Amino acid sequence: MKIIQVKDYEEMSKKAAAVLAAKVVSDPECVLGLATGSTPEGAYRFLVEWYEKGLLDFSGITTMNLDEYKGISKENEQSYYYFMKKHLFSKVNIKENQTCIPDGEEEDGEKVCREYEELIQSVHGVDLQLLGIGRNGHIGFNEPCGEFMKRCHCVTLTESTIEANKRFFESEDQVPRQAYTMGIGTIMSADRILLLASGEEKAEALYQAVCGPITPNVPASILQLHDQVTIIADEAAMSKMNYQS
Ligand code: F6R
Repeated sequence: MKIIQVKDYEEMSKKAAAVLAAKVVSDPECVLGLATGSTPEGAYRFLVEWYEKGLLDFSGITTMNLDEYKGISKENEQSYYYFMKKHLFSKVNIKENQTCIPDGEEEDGEKVCREYEELIQSVHGVDLQLLGIGRNGHIGFNEPCGEFMKRCHCVTLTESTIEANKRFFESEDQVPRQAYTMGIGTIMSADRILLLASGEEKAEALYQAVCGPITPNVPASILQLHDQVTIIADEAAMSKMNYQS
């Protein structure tokens, strides 16, 4: 694991965008695995800025998002579909049919997950996977549990995740209770992984993921077994690690 410590969210975002941009430039037909949430928003902002300056071309890029809430329409502002459109897809020249997100409107979870997994295989997997980390150590929506779920699956969100994500909704009741997510095996199949962490509320999860035992109770800890992981984390997210070392 390569860990890059930066000062704050802004520096994390710029460095993450630089890693993604370098991939887009050097491999213009690559497959990017993308994340949603507060963490990658800043990186997407930089990518849009550099695209507007003529520095990036997304026309050959394919994207595979990590996850989507179940039972949410694409028009819902809280859907990850909407998020990606708002923050990236509508602002760069990526082809819409090359942007892939699990279908949150489809009730048949088995179908969604099987088809999404097949879609990822059909593009020969993800070249560079961007990840955030949940306060409970989740990656994608792989919540702490008794086993590492290998492939795309439907997950019941934990109270901790519902609590963390309610800030995006009008009330806690509106947070969907289930989601479709790439599995741990799907994520680990990516050639390279870039994990971002910002803020003190991520410090314990990051510490456990990097320094703790590899356990499905901290899903991100599996990344210790991937040999191409880069972590970009700000001082606050690194505080536990710096304190311990
Ligand atoms: C989102 C995702 C989640 C988030 C995590 C952190 O697509 O897969 O694992 O990365 O919940 O969320 P934020 O960035 O909002 O703190």
